[in-house]
Amino acid sequence: MRILSGIQPSGIPHIGNYFGMMKTAVELQDKGEAFLFIADYHSLTTGPEPQKLRDQVFGLALDFLACGIKPERTVFFRQSDVPQVTELMWILNNITTVGFLERAHSYKDKIAKGFVPNNGLFSYPVLMAADILLYQSELVPVGKDQKQHLEITRDLAIRFNNLYGEVFTIPEEIIPEAVAVVPGLDGQKMSKSYNNTIPIFGNPKSIRKTVMSIVSDSTPMEDPKDPTKCNIFALYKLFATPEEIAQMEANYRGGNYGYGHAKQALFEKMQEHFAPMQARRDELAKNPDYVWDILRDGAKRASAEAEKTMEKVRVAVGLR
Ligand code: ADP
Ligand code: TRP
Repeated sequence: MRILSGIQPSGIPHIGNYFGMMKTAVELQDKGEAFLFIADYHSLTTGPEPQKLRDQVFGLALDFLACGIKPERTVFFRQSDVPQVTELMWILNNITTVGFLERAHSYKDKIAKGFVPNNGLFSYPVLMAADILLYQSELVPVGKDQKQHLEITRDLAIRFNNLYGEVFTIPEEIIPEAVAVVPGLDGQKMSKSYNNTIPIFGNPKSIRKTVMSIVSDSTPMEDPKDPTKCNIFALYKLFATPEEIAQMEANYRGGNYGYGHAKQALFEKMQEHFAPMQARRDELAKNPDYVWDILRDGAKRASAEAEKTMEKVRVAVGLR
């Protein structure tokens, strides 16, 4: 089974990225033939500063390798190292109506926030469809916010196959239900665009400070508290064992347990979880050539697959 996912390089990943996508990508690499890429072409839609983009690509490669992506199991590469994806996007553009893209949530959200969209942002879902279809992907692990992009991808694949013959595999998304949406510091969806994230890597002091800034209500320390309404508890559940979760629940309901205690417990659990990965990341960072070699090797393996699909596509549409 071919499993593929991608993520944009846009700073240190946060807990939402980790549980929504990275952890699933790591687990799935033992379940099938995994492809994972750093979506640097997609990042251009927001016009990053060039050196920053290069640094973030490298940083994200470190993050994934530190989190447990094994290059011998996963074809791990940089999107722009396989430029056939833009060729496929161009071809898909011609079976995509403007009205269809105008209905995309992420595009509408950006416009509603006052963003002046460029054509890249508008076509974002077509490039994403090209990513998925180029490698004949069957399963795509992503967070819930990407569901519509997968629907658009399926729609384009079906439309193409109807017009030109069976070329593309129709993909399905996998959304880790238990963690469909990880809440941020303020209780909204955790997202870089809302400035409410807890990074998975970084200086423990500054991560602790961030954890301590999680918004809670003003129930006094002594009073019993409802864990189901608490953001700290929701985050703690992602890291703790069932026994630890039951214990914290009892602490909340029992009273004399403050939100500060819960935040400290969450911070400690996070450290326990990410500290070994942080150590691995620090080691890898000392050896950039090794990391770039992994991405180059991944690109070679991905290109071979991409070419197979593109030859079929070129013939199907009459370019050969
Ligand atoms: P951000 O919203 O911070 O910009 P991205 O849009 O780059 O994050 O998302 C990268 C991946 O992480 C996607 O697969 C997305 O679904 C997942 N993801 C992002 N935020 C969350 C969240 N709060 N909960 C679950 N998954 C998330
Ligand atoms: N749009 C995805 C995100 O913001 C990233 C992405 C680009 C992707 N191409 C993809 C995810 C293909 C899965 C498959 O997270």
